[in-house]
Amino acid sequence: MPGDGIGTEVVPEGLKVLTRAVELSGEPVEFEFGQFEASARRWHETGETITDAELEDLRSYDAIYFGACGDPSVPSGVLERGIILKMRFGLDHAVNLRPSKLFAGNPSPLANPGEIDFVVVREGTEGSYTGQGGNMRVDTPAEVATEVSVNTWFGIERTVRFAFEKAMTRRRKLTWVHKNNVMVHAGHLWRRVVESVAPEYPDVAVNYEHADACTMYLVNDPSRYDVIVTDNLFGDILTDLAAAVTGGIGLAASGNLNVSGTGPSLFEPIHGSAPDIAGQQKADPTAAILSASLMAESLGLPVVAKAIQGAVEADLAERDGLGARSTAQIGDAIAARLG
Ligand code: IPM
Ligand code: MG
Repeated sequence: MPGDGIGTEVVPEGLKVLTRAVELSGEPVEFEFGQFEASARRWHETGETITDAELEDLRSYDAIYFGACGDPSVPSGVLERGIILKMRFGLDHAVNLRPSKLFAGNPSPLANPGEIDFVVVREGTEGSYTGQGGNMRVDTPAEVATEVSVNTWFGIERTVRFAFEKAMTRRRKLTWVHKNNVMVHAGHLWRRVVESVAPEYPDVAVNYEHADACTMYLVNDPSRYDVIVTDNLFGDILTDLAAAVTGGIGLAASGNLNVSGTGPSLFEPIHGSAPDIAGQQKADPTAAILSASLMAESLGLPVVAKAIQGAVEADLAERDGLGARSTAQIGDAIAARLG
């Protein structure tokens, strides 16, 4: 599902690298691809984003590989709510997993970045993203708007559990982030959930940070993090910052994970459709390619996932001085590094 803008340029590169990596791995896997159009073009033509029938159809797939959505010709929110959020909610993508790693040889805008290697586990189906709220007295000086943040024990617990499990496979350090000095209702629900799950993971060191403080530490001490778990909106904001300090949004991958097994997970670069550079082969497909690696991992192909990650790291290590390469050239170079 390439979507809009540079999504249509980076998705083919990810598929190129994925299919090549599978071929080389000797894994007995054959892909069957379906293609769905969810784009500004379609919306202009038909008024449709993703239909309910398509959402049902998507359930028969093992995974969804997504490019980007959003276009200046469409009112802000129409494509976002109608496409990516419709899938995250409709397919129950409880966990939005966003790794952040400063790869060797890759420049960071930070003067002394140190080692950066953490993952953000962002809650994916609740918080301020649910669309609860509305406007009244519209276009009057007394207009009211509410955007209600929805937080359930159920939704927080499955996200927090996932984060603890993740921490157990890593450096066993979990930072949960909120703003519970102000948002006391949701914040203390998060706290109680974290405190109720933590005893099951005595080996994981847990600490709490306010979201504003976390943005500061992401800049002046990003090495402190191993696993960050947080709500939908804080996670959105923190992961753009995390991408920036690890070399840019062109490298940041993500997985929207259905952790209940009731539908396919969705893998996408964190970046948007970048209409300013779309159609010019200027986009870096690396984030999309790393998202394909996350997808391979979730499809039970860890060897393929590792191979893709290795090829990306090798390419990144030698990027310096190569000059500008087109989207397809980067995809080809990474595919060639697979073996
Ligand atoms: C992201 C994006 C989306 C979000 C938009 C496109 C709806 O910013 O995946 O981080 O806010 O979650
Ligand atoms: Mg975002």
